[in-house]
Amino acid sequence: MIPFVDLRAQYLDIKSEVDAAIQGVLDSCQFTLGPEVEAFEEEFAAFCGRRYGVGVNTGTSALHLSLLAAGIGPGDEVITSPFTFVATVAAIHYTGARPVFVDIDPQAYTLDPAGLEAAITPRTRAVIPVHLYGQPADMTPILEIARRRRLVVVEDACQAHGAEDHGRRAGGMGEMGCFSFYPGKNLGAYGEGGMVVTDDTNLAHTLRMFRDWGAETKYHHVLKGYNYRLESLQAAVLRVKLRRLEAWTEARRQAARRYGELLEGGPIAAPVERRDARHVYHVYAIRAERRSQLQAGLAARGVQTGVHYPFPVHRLPAYADLGHGPGDFPHAEVAAAQELSLPMYPELSGDAQARVVEALHDLTAPGRRDDIVPTATALGA
Ligand SMILES: Cc1ncc(COP(=O)(O)O)c(C=O)c1O
Repeated sequence: MIPFVDLRAQYLDIKSEVDAAIQGVLDSCQFTLGPEVEAFEEEFAAFCGRRYGVGVNTGTSALHLSLLAAGIGPGDEVITSPFTFVATVAAIHYTGARPVFVDIDPQAYTLDPAGLEAAITPRTRAVIPVHLYGQPADMTPILEIARRRRLVVVEDACQAHGAEDHGRRAGGMGEMGCFSFYPGKNLGAYGEGGMVVTDDTNLAHTLRMFRDWGAETKYHHVLKGYNYRLESLQAAVLRVKLRRLEAWTEARRQAARRYGELLEGGPIAAPVERRDARHVYHVYAIRAERRSQLQAGLAARGVQTGVHYPFPVHRLPAYADLGHGPGDFPHAEVAAAQELSLPMYPELSGDAQARVVEALHDLTAPGRRDDIVPTATALGA
């Protein structure tokens, strides 16, 4: 079996360092915030080329607090991509603002800046570009439009640790950048975690208060805050892992190059890395019209795959109240119907990749195609 991700292989590689870091926290009995969190905030902010890092309990909280710190609330509109993990949109909803969608670039899967200006209304306050799969959104035009139209840019970099656009780090381009350290992420905790990075001293101060009950000093609550603190155990683990992140990212990029070579000339296209972008391949996304059959066929050959994501957010029942219908964001809908994620992790071997692509080619060979019963590609079908 070739797994979709392999967290165990990574743990075994760093076990002695991680175990010692965990023991250090246990010995200190400082379990939330504290020196480990502060050290990790500094190190991760520096990694993103930013002045401040504010550790929080999840990436969702990072997004939520960024919007609150920017003063966003009921009556406001926030623009984002409909092709993202639901958390991006949930965070907008939490503030009371209305999520407004702009369709994706069908090649890059990220918000298409060409549609941004038309979506702006007098109520628009912010835009959240999502660096989906580890590919940075096309930030130059997004930042230019945002500056001209006075919108706050909050990057959803939850899948994009170390990604770059024109040499600028993901999370280092907008007013605030938000990260998730969910275990399967490129930089993953052994539990939950998140961070906001920023260069703005006031925003950092506000974010710090919001994550810890809005307190300026102990028990002096100046904001209606939250319990979104980052745990010290997670920070300690993340500090160990951060030291390896560049090497792991290069290993992912190397694996992506290998997949590209193996797929060349076949019916399946490799994902596109935008020019001047550093894609960090959190997800290695291919497309197939008969996705479920292909996924089942691969599973039968011992290849585990994923789908990110089967529904664009505007077609999810939870957000039906936004009033969208099929065809409103066609590129997102087609991507949701066709995307298939191949195994991708730093420890993935060349042999395993060859087996994945051999299985793919076997299943999509011209003689076999008719054996694969067409699947419903239309959403909601
Ligand atoms: C694009 C995106 N945004 C937001 C999140 C939310 O992060 P978390 O799961 O840490 O709350 C995730 C990860 O799950 C994500 O992939």
